[in-house]
Amino acid sequence: MGTPMLQVEGVQVRYGSVPAIHDLTLHVDQGEIVTVLGANGAGKTTTLRMISGLHRPYAGRVLLEGSEIQKRPAHELVGLGLGHVPEGRRIFSSMTVHENLEMGAFGRRGSFREEFDYIFSLFPVLGERQKQLGGTLSGGEQQMLAIGRALMAKPRVLLLDEPSLGLAPMVISSIFQIIRQIREEGVTVMLVEQNANQALRIADRGYVLENGRVLYEDSASALLGDDRIRRAYLGAEA
Ligand SMILES: Nc1ncnc2c1ncn2[C@@H]1O[C@H](COP(=O)(O)OP(=O)(O)OP(=O)(O)O)[C@@H](O)[C@H]1O
Ligand SMILES: [Mg+2]
Repeated sequence: MGTPMLQVEGVQVRYGSVPAIHDLTLHVDQGEIVTVLGANGAGKTTTLRMISGLHRPYAGRVLLEGSEIQKRPAHELVGLGLGHVPEGRRIFSSMTVHENLEMGAFGRRGSFREEFDYIFSLFPVLGERQKQLGGTLSGGEQQMLAIGRALMAKPRVLLLDEPSLGLAPMVISSIFQIIRQIREEGVTVMLVEQNANQALRIADRGYVLENGRVLYEDSASALLGDDRIRRAYLGAEA
């Protein structure tokens, strides 16, 4: 086993003086899909924002392919291959689909033909709607746009924060299918979800957070079969 693609070691994150993440340690190997599960307020979003440089950890280290990154600003981390699809999608409503995607290439120049072609092959609907304003897209299309925007920077690691939130079951299935496909292209994926059942079905491994700590970690299949996880996070649907 080589150096993990991403490592979080003994991290604490505070909001003011209040710790939201306590002594968090986790890793994602090259080419894995790792899901991070947990109830509202468990610290999932804070974890992703900390990794992508939007919150500086109070203690601990974050390593990308073995190099410390916890002191680097977010825009530098994009350049180093860290892509982040934020909670709530955060697309630009009054910009077109094409312009939204261009924003994802921030910091680089060129026609981005290769990137656009790749994104439109994953999401043909975005290709058809290039001139449409972001705000007029459906929820699922907006999620596709948010993922496409992150892919414009050709990330090696993609952090996804609740991509299924608020979407219809059929749309969720297609988003999860695309996440699998993105991994098959060689991108390492860290997937934050409350939809534990579906997330564990596409993941290799998973972590369950509670109150800013890792409560369980295991292979996705073991977590899917674990009665405690089923009761707490999978509900009747499982
Ligand atoms: N900007 C902030 N200022 C102060 N406290 C915050 C801030 N953002 C989050 N918190 C607190 O940090 C903790 C973790 O929040 P976080 O948003 O990371 O959880 P989450 O697991 O993503 O939850 P959800 O499933 O609702 O998205 C919560 O107790 C939350 O109230
Ligand atoms: Mg969150």
